[in-house]
Amino acid sequence: MPVTAVVGAQWGDEGKGRVIDFLAETADMVIRFQGGDNAGHTVVNDLGLFRLHLIPSGIFYPATRNIVGTGTVINPDNLLAEMQTLTAAGVDLANLWLSDRAHMIMPYHPLLDGLEETARGGTAIGTTKRGIGPTYSDKAARWGLRLGDLRHPAWLRQRLEQVVPRKNILLEHYGAPLLSVDALYEQCMAWQEALGPRIVDVAPMVRQAVQSAQNVLLEGQLGVMRDLDWGIYPYVTSSNPTAAFAGAGAGLPASKITRVVGVVKAYSTCVGAGPFPVELLDASGDELRELGDEYGATTGRPRRVGWFDGVAIDYAAWLNGMTDLVVTKLDVLDTLAELKVCTGYRLGDQVLTHVPDTAILEQVTPIYESWPGWQQPTTGCRHWDQLPAAAQRYLRRLEELAGVPITWVSVGAAREAMFAVQHR
Ligand code: GDP
Ligand code: IMO
Ligand code: MG
Repeated sequence: MPVTAVVGAQWGDEGKGRVIDFLAETADMVIRFQGGDNAGHTVVNDLGLFRLHLIPSGIFYPATRNIVGTGTVINPDNLLAEMQTLTAAGVDLANLWLSDRAHMIMPYHPLLDGLEETARGGTAIGTTKRGIGPTYSDKAARWGLRLGDLRHPAWLRQRLEQVVPRKNILLEHYGAPLLSVDALYEQCMAWQEALGPRIVDVAPMVRQAVQSAQNVLLEGQLGVMRDLDWGIYPYVTSSNPTAAFAGAGAGLPASKITRVVGVVKAYSTCVGAGPFPVELLDASGDELRELGDEYGATTGRPRRVGWFDGVAIDYAAWLNGMTDLVVTKLDVLDTLAELKVCTGYRLGDQVLTHVPDTAILEQVTPIYESWPGWQQPTTGCRHWDQLPAAAQRYLRRLEELAGVPITWVSVGAAREAMFAVQHR
């Protein structure tokens, strides 16, 4: 059985949650490998509609071990709230595990996220203000606190005594209320009380699963265009959603990942600032936003929408080493008479067919080709042959641009509205 990474192929919100929920039926283990509760992974199944922020999307299968991995950042309060919502809906959390090496989002991190966004003024990133950037910054600068620190009170207090005075210098600069070591320590002890038994060294657990050929899914957050290194820096998140980082974040060798599933919407959306060449700023964009119900699952912000970006998918497919593609939200396009697909970026008299760095990407305009719509419902389709011919042609074009076979198509939010594409 393979280790499969499932990653976002665009700007996030491609439908990773629904894809993991679908694929996890046959998984023994699902590991979130990066990001924090900035994610909004929507899952619609027989238990209801859920917007998961941190908990892996395989949680609805009680026999599947779900791990919040080492590469993530964990806000214990928000995690506890999410656990409570799931428990209230009848979801069994007995198989939820947290890596002791994952970093904690402390109460000052979301606060600093907000203050730093305000300080950026007109060039704000449009973060989710969940403290993601400040937490990963502290991790890299070696001022971070890890979940496993909760199990060692003396060590934890010593770390807090080192960290808190430094944070207070910054908070004082911003005119924000200062922190107390005692209050944070008490808070940490309450988290240990609530989460303690789930905080484990996940390395042996993951190793045993891989070595005994179990079916392991690695769940990415966001998408390649917001990758810290390969996305539209600085309008990115502070971790790496691309598959190359999945092994490191989950705790297994990169060479064990044999399948990389890229999740892509049949059109484009983006939340937050930064260049987005295919953006539709007119009424057609508003129409597509309403058809796709494109509002952020975490912040509720209207998503920026646009046509499918063939340059971005080629970049995403290569960088991730995709072996398979899942196209989601095909049904959203059902009523449209004409669809456009971006095949290049115009920069002065040049045509770019790769994604350039941000300062250049800001200057490009998209080059489109036009495709006829199918103007009939696809949401009931459960087989390739049931798709209208125009939808098949459109999907084949996306596949060609990606250079990766489409293995599944999703035509609705519910678990059953996704099907495998076989012989065609
Ligand atoms: P994620 O962050 O990648 O998991 O994606 P989100 O959950 O943020 O956004 C995807 C949205 O599209 C959610 O509201 C899903 O319920 C919905 N969705 C996923 N797949 C489909 C589909 O094939 N058709 C339709 N109509 N909605 C879908
Ligand atoms: P899922 O997993 C869409 C965006 C924010 C901002 C940038 C940095 O549901 O695809 P951050 O809070 O991470 O520091 O914000 O990234 N962003 C997302 N956009 N979906 C998400 O998650 C996102 N998580 C962060 O809007 O532009
Ligand atoms: Mg989302």
